Amino acid sequence: MIKESKQEYLIRVAGPGDAAAVTALFKESYPLLMSQAYDKATLAAALEVMTTANPKLLASGTFYLAESRVGQVVGCGGWTRETPGSGMVHGHVAHIRHFASHPDWIGHGIARSILALCEREARLAGIKQLECYASLNAVGFYGALGFDSVGSIEVRIGTGVTLPSVLMRRTV
Ligand SMILES: CC(C)(COP(=O)(O)OP(=O)(O)OC[C@H]1O[C@@H](n2cnc3c(N)ncnc32)[C@H](O)[C@@H]1OP(=O)(O)O)[C@@H](O)C(=O)NCCC(=O)NCCS
Repeated sequence: MIKESKQEYLIRVAGPGDAAAVTALFKESYPLLMSQAYDKATLAAALEVMTTANPKLLASGTFYLAESRVGQVVGCGGWTRETPGSGMVHGHVAHIRHFASHPDWIGHGIARSILALCEREARLAGIKQLECYASLNAVGFYGALGFDSVGSIEVRIGTGVTLPSVLMRRTV
């Protein structure tokens, strides 16, 4: 699918071969955009883990990329039945995973487009509710897309640091 925008991009399913490009995107996006909401020390510890692409997500078939006309990966995000961290599956609930847009492409509707695709695919797979662990800087984004804040949570990143976040939900 090609989205009309000031800057055009194509959305496609990710694969294991996209690991380096997705890691590069996280390294461009997270440190800059998350610094609006977290202090340097918390972020530095979390980003060490967060900026590496997750091979399981890349191979899931439900993780998507936005690619520019010149083949640069400028956005990503996906969904899984597995709960991040525990890996548990709860009925008709799916989890929104690892959304990021490149700072040069913010506000072009990339994350909205990928989320719409997640919602459509999840609904077709029988999912009734989407959940996400929203980083504090992304609460406004998820709110704009119809998610409700359920409460504050601490998300464990790797084995050490925890990141203050918000549990958000939306019916599909
Ligand atoms: C959150 C993020 C993915 C949004 O990406 P994006 O491609 O700029 O989002 P879109 O352009 O699709 O925005 C969709 C809507 O959300 C709104 N929105 C986006 N970010 C917002 C924010 N921080 N606060 C309030 N609203 C926001 C936009 O205004 C837009 O609404 P509109 O269509 O009515 O104008 C991006 O800011 C990002 O990569 N952040 C860093 C990584 C991160 O925190 N990821 C989430 C982890 S849980």
